[in-house]
Amino acid sequence: MYRTHNCGELRISDTGIKVKLAGWVQRVRKLGGMTFIDLRDRYGVTQLVLDEKAPEQIASTVASLGREFVIQTTGTVIERASKNPKLPTGDVEILLEEIKILNASELPPFTIEDDTDGGDELRMKFRYLDLRRAPLRKALELRHRMAHEVRNYMDSQKFLEIETPYLIKSTPEGARDFVVPSRIHKGEFYALPQSPQTFKQILMVAGYDRYFQIVRCFRDEDLRADRQPEFTQIDCEMSFVEREDILQTFEGLAKHLFKSILGIEFDGAFPRMSYNDAMKYYGCDKPDIRFDMKITDASSLKSKGFQVFDNAEYIGAICAEGCAEYSRKQIDELTEWVKRPQIGAKGLVYIRLSENGIKSSIDKFYSTDELQVFADSAGAKKGDLILILSGTKKLTLSGLSALRLEMGNRLGLRNDKVFRPLWVVDFPLFEYDDETKRYYAMHHPFTSPLPEDMALLESAPGDVRANAYDFVVNGVEIGGGSIRIHNSQIQRTMFKILGFTPEEAERQFGFIINAFRYGAPPHGGIAFGFDRWCAIFGGSDSIRDYIAFPKNNAGKDVMIDSPSIISHEQLNELSLKVIID
Ligand code: AMO
Repeated sequence: MYRTHNCGELRISDTGIKVKLAGWVQRVRKLGGMTFIDLRDRYGVTQLVLDEKAPEQIASTVASLGREFVIQTTGTVIERASKNPKLPTGDVEILLEEIKILNASELPPFTIEDDTDGGDELRMKFRYLDLRRAPLRKALELRHRMAHEVRNYMDSQKFLEIETPYLIKSTPEGARDFVVPSRIHKGEFYALPQSPQTFKQILMVAGYDRYFQIVRCFRDEDLRADRQPEFTQIDCEMSFVEREDILQTFEGLAKHLFKSILGIEFDGAFPRMSYNDAMKYYGCDKPDIRFDMKITDASSLKSKGFQVFDNAEYIGAICAEGCAEYSRKQIDELTEWVKRPQIGAKGLVYIRLSENGIKSSIDKFYSTDELQVFADSAGAKKGDLILILSGTKKLTLSGLSALRLEMGNRLGLRNDKVFRPLWVVDFPLFEYDDETKRYYAMHHPFTSPLPEDMALLESAPGDVRANAYDFVVNGVEIGGGSIRIHNSQIQRTMFKILGFTPEEAERQFGFIINAFRYGAPPHGGIAFGFDRWCAIFGGSDSIRDYIAFPKNNAGKDVMIDSPSIISHEQLNELSLKVIID
């Protein structure tokens, strides 16, 4: 037997017993004649102590130990003279009686402690060492517990977990596909699924009624803190349902996770907001509703001779409570912040409602009364600072949205222990792209229009709202889904609006169009970004630490050095030629 206990479980009640432990040497400290060793495994850290009277053979083994050596020890549990209240095992230590080095270790390139000295890239290269650190271990433990609770809930609701293939044909989720060349079928390619969308719908045609899967998805898109090229979805689909059934079922899942993982209970239903309201009041389709600071339309400031506003398509303002005394420097800093290319504003106008009256950067064009009337309409009071952006509607709203979040951060309104879930509903069915002059499906081409907008589908596609919904927590899009089209005629119309000829639609989606000829039930579903859900529960903006082996910012796995070139033999076998200009 390698061990009788793990490194996280011994307590004061265990004093006097003889134990065998195994693990990694985190640290060796000499103090007077004594030597202390922190021994670590997945469960925690236990202190070993070598006293001055120990036999020479043990002392010399201890003297040869280095960081991350793997050892096995035997000893007696004793009460510590100076206890460590930060460690669950901090009341006791093990008086060493035997020690065996199971494996030596080279000196690790960074310290394996909660606060490490290793840079991002180095830690990614030595991911197995980084994963030994408690914060990463806790992140993966959280992920495990969440997956377990998802399965518990879904099973209790009669969902079947069914696997779908990874080598498939392109799925139309809007990102680029990763493709895999076929050796047997020369010149042909599989695509890795961006999601199991078409398969889950076919499972509904097959009568499986309630499906779910915790499944890997692949999207060749630009990376961000909340995006990885391969990520995991909790993918779900249900038959004989309307939107309300789906929202209730998955609100149930969310509440189960909040309760079982975080111990948080919510009274009543989660709030719902239309896409139009989200855009109007928050400038984005995933509002962080932990704080208010809604956007106010400021078009009443037009036609007073201030050219910038007069020429703008849209003017909008937010009111930062209690910020009237912001210094010149702070305002300049914010102005530079909104002018960065990521936001692209031309400038920032402010109105201060300070103790000694109203002061603004546009005093030349507006009387104090005019500014006061506007401030009242924006709900601002004495002590507040109004920040105004103008320009095209799209850019200005996204700028205001970013500025609102930034002010939320500065004012400490975005506490990561507070959770405000939200359903955003009634998205537009299509987005029109001015460059290519065509409509794109905002969600995907299988999304059904809202029943009351169905009549507009051919005559005014741009006005049609989708029977789609997103699940948003604290400004993060955690999930999205829709009621699907189950009528082949409507599906054909949809493809036509999206610019597919009947032949193209047949070539790309023939399999699902065919399946729908054989009795497709009304159905709908949703998929949650599992990595994002874990990260938000863990209080992090980045999903990377919740994935055991993620890609870096350039989409590379620097530990295994991937992507990498392949041999000529492999290329030949696949009938591929690499051309790099
Ligand atoms: P959608 O494309 O909205 O919907 O994806 C669902 C959820 O997956 C997460 N997500 C990601 N997470 C990490 N990295 C990425 N690159 C990434 N892309 C998406 C988000 C998102 O809300 N088939 C539909 C669902 C349906 O209609 O049922 C779909 O995939 O949290």
